[in-house]
Amino acid sequence: MKIGIEQIGFAIPNMYLSMDDLAAARGVDPNKFKIGIGQDEQAVPPLSQDPVTLGVNAALEWFKPEMRDQIGLLIFGTESSIDESKATAMYAKRLLGIHDWCRCFEAKEACYGATAGLMTAYDFIKNHPDQKAIIFGADIARYGLDTPGEVTQGAGGIAMLVSADPKIMEIEPTSTPFCDDVMDFWRPQYFDTAIVNGHYSTEQYLRFFKNAWNRHKETTGLKIEDYVAFCYHLPFMKQGLKALRLILPEASEAQQTLLQKHFDESAAYSRRVGNIYTASIYLSLISLLDHANDLKAGDRIGMFSYGSGAASEFFTGKLLPNYQDYLRPEAHKEIFEQRRRLTVPEYEEQFKQTLPHDASDFDIDVTNDPAPVVLTGLKDKQRIYDRRK
Ligand code: COA
Repeated sequence: MKIGIEQIGFAIPNMYLSMDDLAAARGVDPNKFKIGIGQDEQAVPPLSQDPVTLGVNAALEWFKPEMRDQIGLLIFGTESSIDESKATAMYAKRLLGIHDWCRCFEAKEACYGATAGLMTAYDFIKNHPDQKAIIFGADIARYGLDTPGEVTQGAGGIAMLVSADPKIMEIEPTSTPFCDDVMDFWRPQYFDTAIVNGHYSTEQYLRFFKNAWNRHKETTGLKIEDYVAFCYHLPFMKQGLKALRLILPEASEAQQTLLQKHFDESAAYSRRVGNIYTASIYLSLISLLDHANDLKAGDRIGMFSYGSGAASEFFTGKLLPNYQDYLRPEAHKEIFEQRRRLTVPEYEEQFKQTLPHDASDFDIDVTNDPAPVVLTGLKDKQRIYDRRK
């Protein structure tokens, strides 16, 4: 039985900030942001987009009403959750109209949450091949104005349909997790921006990748020549590039060129969206598949998921025949083209706008947000969502 990704989509806010503009405003050489860090633009969320709306909007890229009764598992990975108790998964279930006999919950381990969901879905489908799972990853990455992390902010979500009838990528059975208790990035309950030891985090990410990669080679016997591409969790492009460079010397010169080309294609969307935490590695996969025109059925892709704190997993997938028929590169192009570029003062104003931290009711102006699902406000301490399409 093949188990894997049947459908996958993403959603991003309709506003962005150019890293050229940010560099000018912060008095930084733009090459530091664009080459040194590897980011060109970052998504800026309006108040009407939160992890729930970003995740559900991603699913609406492919979701059909007839799928409602097939879903037996719904897992929402997020580290910018909206509630300490109730799962984002429950709102997603209602907004998509999934039936009540579905297991729904939220998964948290920083940026690893959606991969925890995918691995759980794999095991679930093995036991319930007649059912399907939806895995969400959606986050808003906030570090603060004029902080070192500001250039790595972002917002977006992905949603995948996982089943025993995969159309895009089959997930291979052996995966290699590596976890260790480290303090590289965290967000205490009283903060709405993350605390990050950025350079230490890069060191840990590379250590985890090297460990997972080496062990995966030992347990599976696979070598670098068995891969055509790698997709990484990309808090910023350069971090994934550093990981790729660790293993490139294992490849022939021709393969190094190919792996570098595919890495650039996998990072193309991320360079324009920024860090989207749980969703990041899956945006890398979508970006690779949308941009690379030399991939074919049977090609193996290595996937490295990392969530600070820290949990990582190296797993692999193989592309399926006619996988291109299930992609939407033209629609994705349009999503990027329709975004509005903010000036730095507009972005700063937007950043400072937050939902009230007390229990007051609050209305959100949704007129400039074209997304199918929006957050319209807070009432009686509850979030009010509207599915308009
Ligand atoms: N042209 C080209 N490159 C330049 C440059 C210029 N003018 N100026 C600096 N650079 C390079 C540096 O050499 C460095 O490259 P290297 O990493 O290959 O050595 C890179 O740009 C970054 O410079 P650095 O001085 O290290 O940046 P910083 O101290 O301002 O912080 C981060 C960068 C990434 C550490 C910071 O943005 C951060 O912490 N972000 C959050 C990351 C995160 O969330 N991690 C956890 C999730 S996994």
